[in-house]
Parts: sequence; C-alpha cells; structure tokens
Amino acid sequence: MIEALGSADATAAVALWEEADLNRPWNDAGSDFRRALESPSSTVLGIRDGGRLVGTAMVGWDGHRGWVYYLAVAGSHRGRGLGRELMAAAEHWLKEVGAPKIQFMVRTENDAVLSFYDHLGYIPQYCVVLGRRLD
Ligand SMILES: CC(C)(COP(=O)(O)OP(=O)(O)OC[C@H]1O[C@@H](n2cnc3c(N)ncnc32)[C@H](O)[C@@H]1OP(=O)(O)O)[C@@H](O)C(=O)NCCC(=O)NCCS
Repeated sequence: MIEALGSADATAAVALWEEADLNRPWNDAGSDFRRALESPSSTVLGIRDGGRLVGTAMVGWDGHRGWVYYLAVAGSHRGRGLGRELMAAAEHWLKEVGAPKIQFMVRTENDAVLSFYDHLGYIPQYCVVLGRRLD
C-alpha cells in the first residue's frame, strides 16, 4: 500500500535514493526530503515491504504544474510493478490538489529510464531546463 512518508523515514529514503543513484553532491537529499514534508503542496509517497521502505516518489504542486522527483524502487524489488504504482499514486495525489498536468525531469545521463516512462505513456516535452542555485 502506498502511503505518505513521515520524518522518521528520512534515513531510509535517502539510502534508497543513494542505491538508485539519484543523489548528487550539490543536493542535500535529507533536506530535500524534509522540505517536501514541511510544505503543504508536496509530499513523499512510499511503499514498504515487511516494514522496509522499497519505493518512493516525491510529488509537488507549484500552482501550475505537478512535478515528480526521486522516483526510486529498490533494486531487489524492480520489475514487479512498483514504479508504475508509485507514478499512478503521484498522478492521483496531483489530481486531488487540482493539477492539470504531471511532468518531471530526467537527467540526460539516465536516458535508459525513458523506456520505463514510455511504457507508462509519458511523452517527451522537448524543453531545455535552465536554472541557478539560490542557496
Ligand atoms: C525506474 C524505476 C523506478 C522503475 O521501477 P520498477 O518498479 O522496476 O518498474 P515497473 O516494474 O513498475 O515497470 C513498469 C513497466 O515499465 C517497464 N520497465 C521497467 N523498467 C524498464 C526499463 N529500464 N526499460 C524498459 N521498460 C522498463 C516494465 O517492463 C513495466 O512494463 P509493463 O507494466 O508494461 O509490463 C526503477 O528502475 C528505478 O528505481 N530506477 C533507478 C532510479 C531512477 O532512474 N528513477 C527515475 C529518475 S527520472
């Protein structure tokens, strides 16, 4: 069953993201987790197996689009439909808050995952994402 995670799940979530190669030195994953829980417009959804956290999806609504970050399934639990379930739960959460569209960024070095998203019906948006750090 997919549930909204709490602050006690931070360590397990960050470890799962590490295993899934989603953490980067310029992001403090623990702070990312904490901020997502603190804001009323975001959450981290998770799925457990026997109490162990085996999947996550961070979801947020910016008032215009719904975004997904940190989609991860433990290596031991891939290929069982959990990634699909987490994305469906993310869509459900976003629909509930009124978001008309879900979107997310895929790092260029992770383009192998595009086939997974293709299976789920997501279509490339062909935008260049620009940014600058504010911290
Ligand atoms: C991407 C990820 C979440 C997929 O999780 P998963 O639980 O293995 O995926 P599912 O079992 O739900 O697969 C759903 C569908 O996608 C397909 N699929 C999964 N991984 C795939 C891949 N690498 N290539 C092609 N198809 C794939 C499955 O066959 C399945 O198809 P079906 O439902 O039509 O039979 C997981 O591989 C992961 O954690 N990767 C590392 C982290 C990552 O890259 N996250 C995304 C950041 S943008």
